[in-house]
Amino acid sequence: MNNLPTQAAAAGARGATGAEWWRNAVIYQVYPRSFADSDGDGIGDLPGITARIPYLARLGIDAVWLSPFYRSPQADAGYDVADYRAVDPLFGTLEDFDRLLRQAHAAGLRVIVDLVPNHTSDEHAWFQAAAGSRPGSPERARYVFRDGRGKDGEQPPNNWKSVFGGSAWSRVPGDRQWYLHLFDRKQPDLDWEHPEVRAELEAVLRFWLDRGVDGFRVDVAHGLIKAPGLPDWERQAAMVGGDEADGVNHGPMWDQDGVHEIYRGWRRILDQYPGQRMMVAEAWVRPQSRLARYVRAGEMQQAFNFDYLLAPWDAAALRRVIENSLAAMEAVGAPATWVMSNHDTVRHASRLGLRRPGARPMGIDAAGEQPDEVLGLRRARAAVLLTLALPGSAYLYQGEELGLPEHTTMAAHHRQDPAFHRTGGEEIGRDGSRVPLPWQASTPSLGFGPGARTWLPQPDSFARYAVDQQDGVPGSTLELYREALRLRRTYELGQGRLRWQEAEPNVVVFDNEGVRVAVNLGPREAALPAGEVLVSSQPLDTPGRLPGNAAVWTVLDRVSKK
Ligand code: NOJ
Repeated sequence: MNNLPTQAAAAGARGATGAEWWRNAVIYQVYPRSFADSDGDGIGDLPGITARIPYLARLGIDAVWLSPFYRSPQADAGYDVADYRAVDPLFGTLEDFDRLLRQAHAAGLRVIVDLVPNHTSDEHAWFQAAAGSRPGSPERARYVFRDGRGKDGEQPPNNWKSVFGGSAWSRVPGDRQWYLHLFDRKQPDLDWEHPEVRAELEAVLRFWLDRGVDGFRVDVAHGLIKAPGLPDWERQAAMVGGDEADGVNHGPMWDQDGVHEIYRGWRRILDQYPGQRMMVAEAWVRPQSRLARYVRAGEMQQAFNFDYLLAPWDAAALRRVIENSLAAMEAVGAPATWVMSNHDTVRHASRLGLRRPGARPMGIDAAGEQPDEVLGLRRARAAVLLTLALPGSAYLYQGEELGLPEHTTMAAHHRQDPAFHRTGGEEIGRDGSRVPLPWQASTPSLGFGPGARTWLPQPDSFARYAVDQQDGVPGSTLELYREALRLRRTYELGQGRLRWQEAEPNVVVFDNEGVRVAVNLGPREAALPAGEVLVSSQPLDTPGRLPGNAAVWTVLDRVSKK
């Protein structure tokens, strides 16, 4: 099925400027389980998303990225795919997907889908066949099976640890072999040296491209190729990168040179399709110059900028990250990207309310430090005026436009993240960022679904953040996002160039396309830039002053830009 006309309409409706759409797109992450539930089973679904397309279009974004909705036992919330070409019944049907895509395109929104190539589910037909076959069989060759160490093979083949805790190897019952899983034991790693694996995932790409998707978010893009011989490595294989000096992402399972050839092949496939299809790498790789290798000419178009997500709330640190990102991406002709939250990290409205703002705990529970909700939201509102003013492409995570905090007191028995269970609760995990969205304050599931059920509990505070409490309310976070997105488009900030200006300590000031952007990261007032105020994250009550933890866009010449 080729829906060229709708894709062309999408490009036209958004006033394409000649450059590829993804160079400056704002892409909104929909986490299908938690966005909107149409059938009342407590789990969000594709028809739920389709029903909210008008909301997404009104927000002023360019595209949505859908986290996985494929057939899956849901051992890792769908990042364990049992069939790459089927929609899981939890989320709907393939027809539901086609309808979603058609309606999104008709509303001028592009749609990118998640591709999970590093591993399948252990319930994928290939793994089922492998587990039932003998060591050395062709079925096992598509995964990373190895003999165990020790006399009877009772020790794992090497000392690699799973990102989710525990060993990265599980033993096949009654067998001398083990299989590698960098994540959960229900997520066996594929062997990307195998030609059948390459051919199959290329066919999967074509399957979704033929249906009309605009691109792919590539899961664990830095993990597909492992160093020859699978050498021991003492470190914990973390997903969220540590400090550069930590080297957590420099192990023999990460960022091997061989991954790039795979992406060059994929790029050739994408380029055979009309409509500027794209890929964005989820690669926890440092430094930025290494990350830039994923977006060289002929490879992917974008890579998530996790250095920005992880930056502390500090003007000098943020400026350094922004400068490094722009320079590294410019060197290879790729746009920089900016992201503050996703389904794997504590929501930034909460992170920014911690004593060390911008610290990155692996989840928060009732026993941990509780963020200052008011201060966190205040900073989050300032942060989005920074993010949306930067040249390049920005990613938003569903609910951040409402200022949603993390659920920081969720009881252990609700938690579903395999990282929580595999570490015996030592890692609190990611459930707190994945709570179903509040749409209407007064219904039992806060408008998430027709009934009261939600697959994770919503904290009481969510009622205050519901869409219907903010829609049309001047000064609400939702209206701030809508206004900033509108202005970003009007002033073409995504296509612009950034020119740093002198600033007081802990204040960031720059110009972009005639807009002056000032972000005051400190607690005390700073000077308000001259010019007419376009938007501010807080009321500007004192003439000439920008409050602490607040941001503003001003312009000297409004007329020329309409
Ligand atoms: C990254 C995804 O964002 C995360 O949610 C998942 O658990 C891992 N990759 C494994 O697929």
